[in-house]
Amino acid sequence: MEKILTKNVGKPNSQDIEVYLGGGGYKALEKALGMKPKDVIAEVKKSKLVGRGGAAFPTGLKWEFTRRESAEPKFIACNADEGEPGTFKDRVILLNDPHLLLEALIIGGYAIGASKGFIYIRGEYYREIETVEKAVEQARTKGYLGDNILGSGFSFDVQLYKGAGAYVCGEETALLESMEGNRGCPDCRPPFPAESGFLGKPTAVNNVETLCNIPAIMINGGEWYSRIGSPDSPGPKLYCLSGHVNKPGVYELPMGITLRELIENHGEGVKGEFKAALPGGVSSCLLANLDVKLDYKSVARAGSMLGSGAVIVINEDTSIIDVAKNTMEFFARESCGKCSVCREGTRRAREILTRFANGGGKAKELDLMLELGEVMYDTACCGLGQAAMNTTASAIRLFREEFEQKVRK
Ligand SMILES: Cc1cc2nc3c(=O)[nH]c(=O)nc-3n(C[C@H](O)[C@H](O)[C@H](O)COP(=O)(O)O)c2cc1C
Ligand code: SF4
Repeated sequence: MEKILTKNVGKPNSQDIEVYLGGGGYKALEKALGMKPKDVIAEVKKSKLVGRGGAAFPTGLKWEFTRRESAEPKFIACNADEGEPGTFKDRVILLNDPHLLLEALIIGGYAIGASKGFIYIRGEYYREIETVEKAVEQARTKGYLGDNILGSGFSFDVQLYKGAGAYVCGEETALLESMEGNRGCPDCRPPFPAESGFLGKPTAVNNVETLCNIPAIMINGGEWYSRIGSPDSPGPKLYCLSGHVNKPGVYELPMGITLRELIENHGEGVKGEFKAALPGGVSSCLLANLDVKLDYKSVARAGSMLGSGAVIVINEDTSIIDVAKNTMEFFARESCGKCSVCREGTRRAREILTRFANGGGKAKELDLMLELGEVMYDTACCGLGQAAMNTTASAIRLFREEFEQKVRK
């Protein structure tokens, strides 16, 4: 497949605007500015692009909802927090092709009627922040940002925000709270950010990878894009492959390749024997079947979620209880504490899993953890609490004997 998202990665000085322009950069913006905003949105809807940040919400629809709101001003915020463990794809674009992101963000701003865009980057991404800052300056100098862009009458500028290292601030409402200078705590919805986001104004929040599909859609059309990869959720996908594989890395492949193809053809196989994989980072359920197609619907049908596409491979030598315990340590630390079910649930689960890891589990606690997972899914305010038990619950379902061997006799 021809590369769309990483086509410039590896080119010398790919971050430089001259190199980007030399490869046809900012032509998609020119084209979009010659269209009506509603036609830009129609093209994105035709492409069937869905968000790559985790929730897989249709991007065209999100833009339409934001545009439709009467309140002004409107904003577009790019989510570059990239906090899900095992996810390291957005940084590849931020570091190598920042103008691809800027071009997409400007098009998004034009489509929804925003004059201001934000990029919220995780604070640890020092080099990425510096690279994007330079790109913003270059785009301003060349007239792609600022007043009356390319003589179109459309004005737009971009501001960067640096995150302070909280995983939960990648959740869109917590991200907006953080941008406003408040504690990064998710809000219960509705209202959704499209209606009431940054400073209470309509805001479209889009992931880096999601946005970077937009220039190719503008140039080639939504119809063309909808034929790439899986018909259910088309397009290219940046898969982050890590864990027990011989060649970990970020692979741009058509949506819907199988887990087996990804691991064997691209990751050069498992180090040791395959036991299971997390397809969407530590928020997802374990898969033990290598023939699952890695697109949103197929992974959901297999009982998990593709999320941000963070595929973590686990080999036979690994204790599944340790995997569950490690993920729960992460969630217990990162829970913002707003909902008691998440704040207390993750801590109690961590205690139980630590007991199992030390050979002191209680048999009845296995079903108790499954029940806790259901209660957290039903009642937690945000995706962190709703998904925190996924890895643990799937570990119990798939590898119950391993847990039973650790029950205190
Ligand atoms: C706990 C938590 C962390 C999240 N972290 C990120 C993140 O780092 N980057 C991201 O793009 N989306 C993240 N999301 C998803 C966002 O809330 C939101 O759905 C996404 O940014 C929307 O963009 P998209 O439609 O382009 O995917 C997270 C969600 C949750 C619940
Ligand atoms: S589910 Fe957890 S992280 Fe999300 S708002 Fe509630 S306490 Fe905070």
